[in-house]
Amino acid sequence: MKYFTTTSKASRRAVDCVLVGIYERGRLSAGAADIDAASKGTLTRLFKSGDLSAKLGHCSILTDLPGVRSPRIAVVGLGKFSDFGVKQFRRSLTGALRAISHRKCAQIFNTLTLEKVADTDAYYLARHTAQGVNEASYRFTAMKSGRKPPVMRLNTVGLALVKRGDAARSLRGAEHGDAIAAGMTLARDLGNLPANVCTPSHLARTAQRLAREHRNLQTRILNEAAMKRLGMHSLLSVTAGTDEPAKLIVMQYKGAPGKKPVVLVGKGVTFDSGGISLKPGPGMDEMKFDMCGAAGVMGTMLAVAKLQLPINLNVVVPAVENLPSGRATKPGDIIKSMSGKTIEILNTDAEGRLILCDALTYSRRFKPEVLVDVATLTGACVIALGHHRTAVMSNDDGLASEFVAAGIGADDRGWQLPLAEEYADQLKSNFADFANVGGRDGGAITAGCFLGKFTDGMKWAHLDIAGTAWTSGKQKGASGRPVPMLTEFLLSRCGALP
Ligand code: BES
Ligand code: MN
Ligand code: ZN
Repeated sequence: MKYFTTTSKASRRAVDCVLVGIYERGRLSAGAADIDAASKGTLTRLFKSGDLSAKLGHCSILTDLPGVRSPRIAVVGLGKFSDFGVKQFRRSLTGALRAISHRKCAQIFNTLTLEKVADTDAYYLARHTAQGVNEASYRFTAMKSGRKPPVMRLNTVGLALVKRGDAARSLRGAEHGDAIAAGMTLARDLGNLPANVCTPSHLARTAQRLAREHRNLQTRILNEAAMKRLGMHSLLSVTAGTDEPAKLIVMQYKGAPGKKPVVLVGKGVTFDSGGISLKPGPGMDEMKFDMCGAAGVMGTMLAVAKLQLPINLNVVVPAVENLPSGRATKPGDIIKSMSGKTIEILNTDAEGRLILCDALTYSRRFKPEVLVDVATLTGACVIALGHHRTAVMSNDDGLASEFVAAGIGADDRGWQLPLAEEYADQLKSNFADFANVGGRDGGAITAGCFLGKFTDGMKWAHLDIAGTAWTSGKQKGASGRPVPMLTEFLLSRCGALP
C-alpha cells in the first residue's frame, strides 16, 4: 500500500473516494465541512432530510458532488462528538471501507485523521488507518476452491494532516501499521488453517520461510530426538499420542548487537483434542486455534523483521498435537520436565503449560532481558475476561503495566490478573513436585502460577489470549491478536515510537 500525506482540502483531491464524517446532531467533521462548503451545503441538506446517518459506522456514498474533484464522497457516521475516541475512529473507518469495498476505488483520501481523537495523535491515527485498510481487505480463502476475486482494488491511501509538521509522524505510523497488519495477517492465516494442514511441521516451514525472506533473521528447528536429549519430557509427554512429529521452533532476529534479547514463547498446539482427558465434541473444531500463541509471536517477529527494529528478538515455539492413543500420556502419569522438576499430569487437557514450561526453561540460555509467553491457555480466562481483554500476568508489576499500557496504545487491550502465592498452593501434588492442574477456581491464575515455577530469576510475563485470539459464531476466525499489543511493547522498548 502507498501512503501520502497532505494538508490540502478534501474538495481539491482528485482521488477515487474521499472519506469524511458526520457526528450526531449533524456536526460535520473538518473534511465534511470543506466538502459541504464546496458543494453549497449538500451535506447539511442531506442530513436534515434524513439521507445521511450519524450512527457510528453507517456510511453513505455520494457521487459527483458539484464543486468537488473526487467522484465519490464516503460520508460515515461518527456517533457522538464528545465520545469520539480511537475505538470510534476505527469503527467509522471500517464502516466506510466496507461501503466502498465493492467499488472501483484504487485511491482514497482519509480526512478523519483531521478530527480531535482523545488520547492519540497523527502517528496513531495513521497507524490505525493502515491497519484498518489491511483488515478490511482480509479474507481467508486458502481452503476454498474456484476463482478468488481480489477483495479490494485499493493501492493508495491519503492521510489528511492538520499541519505540515505532522507528516513524518504520520508516515511512520502508516509504515508501522502496515507491518503490524502483515503480522496479523500471518497470525490469522496460520490460525484459520485447519489442523490437517497447519501441523507442527507447517509452523516450522513457515518460520524457515520467514528467515529466508528477511534480513537479520535466522530459524532453527529442533526435532523430537533433540528435545529428548535436552530432557524436554514434559513437552514430549503431550505429543506422545500423535503420529505428527513435534517441533521446537527457534527464531532469532538481531537488530541490536551486544544487547540482551526479548524472548517471546508461543503455545503451538496445532490441535488440542484434550488427549485422554478428551474434550466434549461440540466446538472441538475450534481447538485448531490452539496454536494462536505461536501464530501471534511469529506474526510479531514478522512485523519486527519488516521494520528492521533496533532490538534483539527471539521467538520460541513448542509445536505439538495433543491426541489420545495407546501411547498417549494418562492422567496420573508423572514426568520430569527439562528443569528437573517433576509433574503429576492429572489432566492431559492442561497440555499448554506442559509444553510451555520446557520452552521457558529452554529460553533461559538466551539470558532474556524479558521473557514473555503467549498462549490460548485456559477456558477460565475466557470466563474471567470474556473476549475483549487479554489476561496479563507477571512476576514484575512494572512489566505487567508495560503490557497493559501497550494494549491501550495499540488498541489491543489487556488486563492484569494477580499471580499470588496463595493460588500456587492449589497445584500441590501428593506424588510429584506439583500437579498440572489446580482445580476450577481461579483457573487462569493457577495456570500462570504453574508457568511461574519455571521462570525463577527471569523477568517474565504471561499473556493468556484464550478469549481474544479468535472469534466464535458466524464470524468464526482468528483475530490476529495480540500482534498489535506485542509490537507496541517492542516499539516502545526500542525507542521506535515517535
Ligand atoms: N486450549 C485449552 C484452553 C482453551 C479452552 C482455550 C477454551 C480457548 C477456549 C487448554 O489446553 C485447556 O484445555 N485448558 C483446560 C485446563 C483445565 C483442564 C485445567 C481448560 O481450560 O478447560
Ligand atoms: Mn487442553
Ligand atoms: Zn490447549
